Amino acid sequence: MTKAATAQQEPRRIDHFYARADRWRELASIARRSASGTGNREALEAAFAEIELDEEFHAFPGGRLMAALRDRLDPGRFSAQSFATLVRRISAAIVTRDYKHDSSEWETDDSGDIPADLLPPTLGEGSARRPYFEVLVVTPSPMARWPHLVSEMRRLRRSEDSFIYEVVPVGSFEDALCAAVLNAELAAVLIYEGFPLRSRHEAPVLRELLNAHGFSAEVDADDTALPLVGALKRLRPELDLYLLSDRHVEKLAGEPMADSVRRIFYQVEEPLEMHLAVIEGVRDRYETPFFDNLKKYAQRPIGTFHALPIARGKSVFKSDWIRDMGEFYGLNLFLAESSATTGGLDSLLEPTGNIKRAQDMAARAFGADHVFFVTNGTSTSNKMVHQALVAPGDIVILDRNCHKSHHYGLVLAGGQPLYVEAYPMTEYSMYGAVPLRSIKQALLDLRDEGRLDRARMVDLTNCTFDGHIYNVRRVMEECLAIKPDIIFLWDEAWFGFAHWSPFLRPRTAMGAAADIEQWLRAPDSIDAFEKQQTALGKSPSRETLLETRLIPDPRKVRLRVYQTNSTHKSMSSIRQGSMVLVKDVDFADVEAQFHEAVFTHASTSPNQQIIASLDVARRQMELEGYSLVWNAIQIALDIRKEVASHPLISKYFSILGADEMVPGEYRQSGFVDFLAPGVDWGDAVRSMREDEFCLDPTRMTLVCGTAGFDGTQFKALLADEYDIQVNKTSRNSVLLQSNINNTRSDVAHLIRVLLEISHSLDKKLEQGDGTRQNFAARVKSLMTDVPDLPNFSCFADAYRGNAGKSTPEGDMRTAFYGAYDAAHCEHVQLAGSEIDDRLKHGPAMVSANFVIPYPPGFPILVPGQVVTPETVEFMRKLDVKEIHGYDEARGLKLIRLRTKPDSARSTSKAKEFAPISS
Ligand SMILES: Cc1ncc(COP(=O)(O)O)c(C=O)c1O
Repeated sequence: MTKAATAQQEPRRIDHFYARADRWRELASIARRSASGTGNREALEAAFAEIELDEEFHAFPGGRLMAALRDRLDPGRFSAQSFATLVRRISAAIVTRDYKHDSSEWETDDSGDIPADLLPPTLGEGSARRPYFEVLVVTPSPMARWPHLVSEMRRLRRSEDSFIYEVVPVGSFEDALCAAVLNAELAAVLIYEGFPLRSRHEAPVLRELLNAHGFSAEVDADDTALPLVGALKRLRPELDLYLLSDRHVEKLAGEPMADSVRRIFYQVEEPLEMHLAVIEGVRDRYETPFFDNLKKYAQRPIGTFHALPIARGKSVFKSDWIRDMGEFYGLNLFLAESSATTGGLDSLLEPTGNIKRAQDMAARAFGADHVFFVTNGTSTSNKMVHQALVAPGDIVILDRNCHKSHHYGLVLAGGQPLYVEAYPMTEYSMYGAVPLRSIKQALLDLRDEGRLDRARMVDLTNCTFDGHIYNVRRVMEECLAIKPDIIFLWDEAWFGFAHWSPFLRPRTAMGAAADIEQWLRAPDSIDAFEKQQTALGKSPSRETLLETRLIPDPRKVRLRVYQTNSTHKSMSSIRQGSMVLVKDVDFADVEAQFHEAVFTHASTSPNQQIIASLDVARRQMELEGYSLVWNAIQIALDIRKEVASHPLISKYFSILGADEMVPGEYRQSGFVDFLAPGVDWGDAVRSMREDEFCLDPTRMTLVCGTAGFDGTQFKALLADEYDIQVNKTSRNSVLLQSNINNTRSDVAHLIRVLLEISHSLDKKLEQGDGTRQNFAARVKSLMTDVPDLPNFSCFADAYRGNAGKSTPEGDMRTAFYGAYDAAHCEHVQLAGSEIDDRLKHGPAMVSANFVIPYPPGFPILVPGQVVTPETVEFMRKLDVKEIHGYDEARGLKLIRLRTKPDSARSTSKAKEFAPISS
């Protein structure tokens, strides 16, 4: 049976798409059965056909080994035993990745005639292994010539090369894109002109995927090279692209898209030049200016007469008392410590040398104009952005569930938060994300009050802790249609890795900003805007504006996008490593302010190791981010599949799918979930393109309330009994996250643990009716007796500053500092009747500070906010131990206002309700 036939009968499930190693293991197991006489040749052929097509897109096992396998399946020469042996070896080499440095893996087991230049594993005797990558060659030459092409390229290898690569030839536009999707080892692409558009294969799932990405067959069949450049840049912007043409290369260089090409060669020019260019391109990404220099610095004999006695480690290693610290961390940590900014070490606060270069390289890698390294976490990055861009009195439209650094940032900057609410997921005691309609509503309210000029920034979390991803492009476009110069701050603390997945990148701040930039330059964008204006008429109703997907005026838009990301949360950076990414056409106007904000918040003793790790994290993502992120996604899909399909585990536990995390009204594409029957990558990509919100597959909400555990309890059980750490919890769930560090063994361990817990629950419930009734009551309490999530109430009039009549922003800073005067504060106990009395009869209660319970982690109260019955009810039902800003012994801290009893809810002028201290 051909692969195409298989695909038509049963579309491949999304979780099979990238599981290359799994498919080899599956083939090995079928081959083993066949060799032992319990399997048949047809099954073996079908499994081999399933693998064969995709393997064309990888250098290993390559043509020779695949031909050897096919040969062993030949009816005349069929040998199940020798087929099984070779498959097992190839499968193991793919899993262990040994083929990258062990040339014997490339042999057919009976040949032994491996070309001498195939894979020299090291640079020279005793030196480190050379990193390995693959180069895609897109060529019009006939397939029969490909082995020659591969060996010609191998002959160019030199012992001086820092890296080693193998070549993967393909013959069409479609095949090139398939290879770019499937082959994570690719680092460069050589594109010869003159190749056809269509693949010779029927690969409906792949084609569907390419269509969903927008790479449909609208490409001119006679001119495929430059369109391929454009498509590859969208799909994998980190790849180095080289164009080989026999036309006038000088003319080509001026064409659109040619600037995405690293170098253009005249086709018959010296091939060694091409080889050297490929190596140099990878070296450009491999370079880590700060880390490289720090390593050199550590080797120099330096006498230090500055603070930081720990530098060079003498006080540590000579000590009888703390030497174990030195032994634990190793000498290099101390040799690489310094408080100097000279000696080539550069200054984070005023970088001009290798930190500046490292930041510029990070900007290139993440698609930003500027990057700033931050060594105090994204908590600090957020405060820097707030301070730099928000002046006292500016209004910031802010998700109330944003991390507390945003709220504190506004207190410090004096900005006024206009809180917008995410949709609640009451049954799981968590919030989703903020519907675009609410954001537009807030902007239109400000417009109607004549105060749109005060709206400075829209500030949202993408993705949320629980994995809700915004339609970032749409949010920005529609907001820009109402206020063309509004600034966006996207807190992507959890989402920095997403840049390295073509699937997720369009939903990142920088990915969406790049798409908008391209649209702004497109010749038909003004037309599209004008057409919509005509259709909307002179004064469209508010409802029309809310219902319409608004198009901004490209002539007026000032695209100003900031992204903060905790590099340490999703990439290989040491804890607290964070970056601020900037794509702001008006950055020059705020650059000085931005530096002031850096000076305000950054430590003057930034940690050298954190800076180095930010540099290295960038290197890693540029060279292997694509494969690492796919692996993290694959791991998540594996966990989701195992939990859903295991009969015992699924009795007690479940992982929420996209349909449970995102209500139907926000899933316009109709996407259900990654593992729903019949769903393929095409559907998932469409959901990413069209839906208002979608779900990051790597963030898994595991419901444990159905097993009788609350989130905190289950988190402790996993940590104490099974050495499994999780982070966030809700009343009835814990959040599992997969990241670039996870392996299949982690999955196996987690599943084994869930199985063990499920087994013990089963056993416990066998004890009798009483136990079963208690269990059912506990599950009911956790799953159904859940507190309503209180929306933000309102700021007391005294803290509404000069807010408009219908807009709810507030002057949080005055309330915050007002509460510093203890004489004008009071406390009221949550238990007891006083608080109920005050809710009924006044005087109104106004929070003196932030009250943030963990979980869920968002502020139930902010300074100046009116306490309502909903707040009190929620707090009374909270069964968490950690509530920041709340002292259980004393109660809620309030600011006393000199107001009449029900004044805080009144809409009278602020001065009548001034706080006592003012
Ligand atoms: C959405 C969000 N933003 C910012 C932060 C703060 O990041 P960091 O821990 O790097 O200071 C967090 C921390 O959990 C977060 O969840």
